[in-house]
Amino acid sequence: MDDQLDELMVCRLNQTRKSVEPCSIVIFGASGDLTARKLIPALYHLHKEKQLPAEYRVIGFARREKTDAAWRAELREGMTQFSRTKPVDDAVWAEFAANVFYCQGEFSDSAAYTKLEQLLTSFDRPALRNNLLFYLATSPSQFGEVVQQLHEVKLLRKGEDGPGWQRLVVEKPFGHDLASARLLNSELTRYASERQVFRIDHYLGKETVQNILMFRFSNSIFERLWNRDSVDHVQITVSESLGVGQRGGYYEEAGALRDMVQNHLLQVLSLIAMEPPVSLDAEPIRDEKVKLLKSIRALTEAEVAKNIVRGQYFAGTVKGEQRPGYRQETKVKPDSNTETFVALKLFVDNWRWSGVPFYLRTGKNLPLSASEVRIQFRPTPNVLFAAQCGSKLDPNALTLRLQPEEGISLRFNGKVPGTSTSVRPVRMSFSYDSEFGAYTPEAYERLLLEAVTGDATLFIRSDEVEAAWTIADAIRAGWENQPLTNREFYAAGTWGPVAAEDLLAQRNHVWRNPQPSK
Ligand code: BG6
Repeated sequence: MDDQLDELMVCRLNQTRKSVEPCSIVIFGASGDLTARKLIPALYHLHKEKQLPAEYRVIGFARREKTDAAWRAELREGMTQFSRTKPVDDAVWAEFAANVFYCQGEFSDSAAYTKLEQLLTSFDRPALRNNLLFYLATSPSQFGEVVQQLHEVKLLRKGEDGPGWQRLVVEKPFGHDLASARLLNSELTRYASERQVFRIDHYLGKETVQNILMFRFSNSIFERLWNRDSVDHVQITVSESLGVGQRGGYYEEAGALRDMVQNHLLQVLSLIAMEPPVSLDAEPIRDEKVKLLKSIRALTEAEVAKNIVRGQYFAGTVKGEQRPGYRQETKVKPDSNTETFVALKLFVDNWRWSGVPFYLRTGKNLPLSASEVRIQFRPTPNVLFAAQCGSKLDPNALTLRLQPEEGISLRFNGKVPGTSTSVRPVRMSFSYDSEFGAYTPEAYERLLLEAVTGDATLFIRSDEVEAAWTIADAIRAGWENQPLTNREFYAAGTWGPVAAEDLLAQRNHVWRNPQPSK
């Protein structure tokens, strides 16, 4: 009965959303991993679920010579491995694949763009020629070249001054520091206006990450506790049980700070801690996120030494499997100082959060893969039960489990039934799986759809990316010329270096580790 009532209470927010117009999606760097692994499976599922416009085309642009048929066959093969639903429905695939084309060319060759322009012109419907989504799945060093070439053949018009719309979707990493991000921003906005640029952070495409705003601002009971009066501290953990694997070359340059903190973790933090936006439109939401990032206390060298911890894994065992140390991974320097783990203590210097530590951590080769946010509430006054139980009376905590086993749980204390008077923590839990079934669309499905619709809420604005790099750069500056110390190494399969424990111990806090899946 209650379930039926809940169904009646569903409030659909995007009923006023613009309908998706026919368009062409051009993927630059189409032979790369991302296309087969994420983009094509996402587009196939959007097609299957009838979310794409009635008419659309997908064009892969890449260097290697191949026919449309060969590319389609290649993508079909990839689907067997990467599709989230299996088996792939061959009838649906055939329908989808009929919209897929290939355009061979070098990014620097203007003739290739003329060929692309001709292909687009050959589509009968004007919207397929004028509404263009350019997905730059290329190295950032090629962004400038590609947009300039697109501008020259008039496929990209700044400010969309003409028929239709043109948008650029760009992948991370968006630069490697503030200066390079600014350069990329200026390269992109030379030929497109900021509102035409959609910077991806795939964490924003995750259901549970999107739910943070709903959870905070569609309920009255939690938001009033969401401040320094009630919250003792916040822990954000994004742990991964895999090592760097074959990505050693990339990772040596990136490290965990650039790979995970500058983007995903700071995004989660900004959603958790931001002020309510004045409306649910993209700009007010992004304004608040930027404000939050700018309120993070500036990290001087002394602050970095005190509040930021790096780590690097050495050989160990994860889930019964022997793992090599980071320095033994392929394409990694044997004396590398690159961090595979970071733990941060950040302060948000605004009225709401003054004095509340935000602990963030992420790392490779940790015991399990799990992402969660834990809001740790203040303890009760030290009287009554607390006076007798001391540290055994655990303060309340609210955990937002972002992945896997997505859900939210509230931990509070209750009486153990029986004649003796004992108290222990118990939980109230909401699980996506039991409430909504195992519907877990890939982040890229949502992100691609939003880009096609033109809603920028789930994408990173230029000032946001720059604010995040300002934080990451300050940390890197503090680490410069400082080799890792003994307290910063950790065995693969453990929860990080001792230094990360020390970081919390400064205030008598301890990390609460995510629990393994049941
Ligand atoms: C990517 C990082 O952005 O995010 C990877 O480059 C990381 O190193 C991945 O493994 C994690 O994403 P997810 O969705 O698996 O949590």
